[in-house]
Amino acid sequence: MLDLTAKPARPLVAASILSADFGAMADDCRSALAAGADLLHVDVMDGHFVPNLTMGPDMVRCLRKHFPDVYLDVHLMVDRPDLFAEPFIEAGANNISFHLEVSQPMRPASAGGIDAAALIDRIHKLGTHAGMVVNPPTAPDGLAAYLDSLDVVLVMSVNPGRSGQSFMPQVIDKAKWLKPRLRPTTRLEMDGGLNPQTIATARNAGVDMIVTASALFGATDRAAVVRALKA
Ligand code: DX5
Ligand code: ZN
Repeated sequence: MLDLTAKPARPLVAASILSADFGAMADDCRSALAAGADLLHVDVMDGHFVPNLTMGPDMVRCLRKHFPDVYLDVHLMVDRPDLFAEPFIEAGANNISFHLEVSQPMRPASAGGIDAAALIDRIHKLGTHAGMVVNPPTAPDGLAAYLDSLDVVLVMSVNPGRSGQSFMPQVIDKAKWLKPRLRPTTRLEMDGGLNPQTIATARNAGVDMIVTASALFGATDRAAVVRALKA
């Protein structure tokens, strides 16, 4: 199993299964891992936080069965991550990331906003890494209170909802603001529109965990894509 928080932090490539062939999931994941991907990224969408609907804990359970030693990074694009963290951890997730946009005070308690500190604590008590995510329009300072307890900070470089969108360069300043504020063992992850053409700007901002869906699964030479992302 990958030791996510070990130093020195070489860049990791996370294969987002959103662009895999859902009818041949294990084979497609095996191909991505053989091409050099370090871990699998699981995009969970609830049809509320984002309009799209994707996958639940059973996907993670099956991935864990087929890949007992592969790190599973679960990205919860859901309104109520507090209801779903435990089922995904029980199914075999290694990291649970949830959005700042559904956390108090950005979303008030009266509107269902969750207590991020309490959720991070619950995730950690279950022996799992915890991450928080910011969407492109969201300022990063709301994360400041949590940075010392996070294993992963994920900067979205597209508006979440689907793969295959164009990289939004305006999020780079946010990554640069976050990087020096992270613990040395915390990963700075970026997600959306990353490919061999857009990766340099992300890497220069300190990104050391690279999510890729369409660029990787859409390529005929997947190993060449992973090499270019890590170069
Ligand atoms: C977007 C998801 C991403 C997505 C990335 O809502 O969180 O993980 O799959 O897709 P690409 O790499 O194609 O932009
Ligand atoms: Zn994602």
